[in-house]
Amino acid sequence: MTTTETRTPVLELRHLNLHYGSVEALHDVSFSAYGGEVIGLVGDNGAGKSSLIKTVSGVNTPDSGEIYVDGQLRHWRSPHDSMMAGIETLYQDSGLAPDLSIGANIFLGRERRRRGLLGRLGFLDQRAMEREALEQLARVGITIPETQRTVSELSGGQRQAVAIGRAIAWAKHVIILDEPTNHLGARQSAEVLKVITSARAHGLCVLFISHTLPHVLEVTDRIIVLRLGRVVRDAPTSQFTVESLLAAITGLSE
Ligand SMILES: Nc1ncnc2c1ncn2[C@@H]1O[C@H](COP(=O)(O)OP(=O)(O)OP(=O)(O)O)[C@@H](O)[C@H]1O
Ligand SMILES: [Mg+2]
Repeated sequence: MTTTETRTPVLELRHLNLHYGSVEALHDVSFSAYGGEVIGLVGDNGAGKSSLIKTVSGVNTPDSGEIYVDGQLRHWRSPHDSMMAGIETLYQDSGLAPDLSIGANIFLGRERRRRGLLGRLGFLDQRAMEREALEQLARVGITIPETQRTVSELSGGQRQAVAIGRAIAWAKHVIILDEPTNHLGARQSAEVLKVITSARAHGLCVLFISHTLPHVLEVTDRIIVLRLGRVVRDAPTSQFTVESLLAAITGLSE
């Protein structure tokens, strides 16, 4: 939770720059993030938040600058590389498959296979997957009676909880959440914020992107403010109020 320390950051960005053609999306972005820390990433529309997380997750390739994960310099060739390094990213659209069961969704793309009689790939190990899915979700405080239910039968909040539960289950170091409480009601948002707190308790670093400033103030330890692709503030959450955060975001504080 503290930022002045000798621990190795789980994620360190040094002097990242990114352009889309002539548009400068990120300018000299640097910060360190530690395990057990929830960081709010805020900024106006077009400030560069999504560009930044896409760069961390390997969707974008920076023009210059470096990304270190757990002390190691990394170069992503694809989002798969960042996943293998322990970074899970949840984009605004949760990426769940509505017609599949909760269990199948948790293991989507990483299905367990049981050795079949004829060897090699065997069958999808449905029972083990569902048991493990329940365990993974319970670990982060989500209880769903039946993992066989399809995701389409869940509420928006429950879906987000499943998506975040899945990210927590697989993330080794960092979870990036792009507006996970968007379009959710008060109770559903509260569920999602609880899951974020639980991820922190598991020692993960959470990057939480949101325009809902009260949520950011409630759940984060530290807030990084982006404006026009630059980091303009990076300070403990206790130093901000909704008003001062708004001022930092819009630039009216200067
Ligand atoms: N694929 C793209 N091609 C060209 N320009 C882009 C692209 N994606 C983003 N931009 C530009 O880069 C800048 C940063 O955009 P980005 O999507 O990172 O902002 P953001 O902080 O995520 O905004 P929002 O809160 O609206 O999601 C903006 O000027 C935007 O118009
Ligand atoms: Mg965005």
